[in-house]
Amino acid sequence: MNGITPAMTPARAAEIAASLDLRQLPADFLANPYPVYARLRETEPVKRLPDGSVFLTRLADLVAVYRDAQTFSSDKQVEFGPKYNHAPFDQAPWALAEGVSPLFQHHTSSLVFNDPPLHTRVRRIIMGALTRRAIDQMTPGLVRLVDQLLENIEAQGGGDLIEDFASAIPVEIIGNLLDVPHADRGPLRGWSLAILGALEPALTPEQEALGHRSVSEFLAYLRDLVAERRKRPGDPEHDVLTRLILGDGGEALSEVELLQNCIFLLNAGHETTTNLIGNALLCLQEWPAQAAQLRADLAAASSEEARQDLLSRAVDEFLRFESSNQLGNRRALQACSVGGVDLPEGTRITLCIGAANRDPAQYTEPEVLNLRREGNKHLAFGFGPHQCAGLSLARLEGRIAIGRFVQRFPAYRLTAAPVRGGRARFRGFLSAPFAIR
Ligand code: HEM
Repeated sequence: MNGITPAMTPARAAEIAASLDLRQLPADFLANPYPVYARLRETEPVKRLPDGSVFLTRLADLVAVYRDAQTFSSDKQVEFGPKYNHAPFDQAPWALAEGVSPLFQHHTSSLVFNDPPLHTRVRRIIMGALTRRAIDQMTPGLVRLVDQLLENIEAQGGGDLIEDFASAIPVEIIGNLLDVPHADRGPLRGWSLAILGALEPALTPEQEALGHRSVSEFLAYLRDLVAERRKRPGDPEHDVLTRLILGDGGEALSEVELLQNCIFLLNAGHETTTNLIGNALLCLQEWPAQAAQLRADLAAASSEEARQDLLSRAVDEFLRFESSNQLGNRRALQACSVGGVDLPEGTRITLCIGAANRDPAQYTEPEVLNLRREGNKHLAFGFGPHQCAGLSLARLEGRIAIGRFVQRFPAYRLTAAPVRGGRARFRGFLSAPFAIR
């Protein structure tokens, strides 16, 4: 390995594991959390944290929690009240007109942080638009976009893997999904980073303020976009916003539900997919033998179908190995037992996807990147009723972006140390300067 992921001694991993506190994570953990995850999996797979919550690292325990949505709730009103300076209450947040904290309102009304009935309604509408056919139809546009970015990079002899490539793809794809005019797409990534960044376990006052401001600005923008789309609806087969406006079987969303779930959709498909592409291209720098093998396998593939198979397998291994979304959350609605440990009603649970995806009980040589891995059932997209609604789209973006990049620039190399995002939940890089030869 060439130092992108710094090594950690077993003693240091044990020290961090013993005193793990998600509100105060050391920089060496953020750079390489995996030795700490391994230590926790072996010694304390249901780890009690100082704030009373528990942190799960074994794949079987995550699957059990994801599967049982009756016991383990996704609703975040209780947790996000204090987090976003909003007293918890038992009334739907959108019933409050004034004085509602923007981050609280956003994160408690998006489908991912709700249980039925809101979750069921919104999910059905979104899934109806993300059909296999709709996704297949995005392929030619995606190929054109990626090839244009590769042209620009070729002309410059290199650039920044994140700024000039990885982050430039999802913004366009998700923008197309909601048919956001191209001229308006500039601020989307910044809003998305600030709003999802506010989900990190610890927030500075500046990060929180930026999150609130970003929700407010995003809402103001979407109000106009929705009003315009109500006047001139798009094709509901392709335009998710038109579908969300029309509702499902006569059940329309309220205006706040509609706007907040548009924000969520635009955010959900952004940073995660940017990080899938960025993490993959950096992994290949760290694992040159795997990069060489992938290129050789692609060159030897006898058909386009065979090439797509190889890329699908590689993308799933990147997702397993460096999951762009490392943490998920649930709350126990009743007393229960997880991994043999009794938990009282109300226990807050962090599901560590990054740790589960390297569980030796599930994978052979889990700490090794193996782009030919068979039977790779990872949890990078979660599992159960909330499993990622955009997983086919994310995989498509990954296959096209990573596949075309490595075939066009087989000798790409970093020209300076990459800069990590420094986040626990969303794992990725802010910049990674490179040259194509
Ligand atoms: C590599 C890229 C992606 C990763 C790693 C990822 C990861 C995840 C995970 C782990 C969840 C489950 C959250 C939970 O159970 O608490 C989720 C939910 C979701 N994702 Fe993704 N995602 C990605 C891309 C996308 C894209 C491209 C879209 C949009 C088209 C999207 C839309 C959603 C939606 C709507 C949900 C909520 C589903 C629900 O609550 O029923 N995601 N994602």
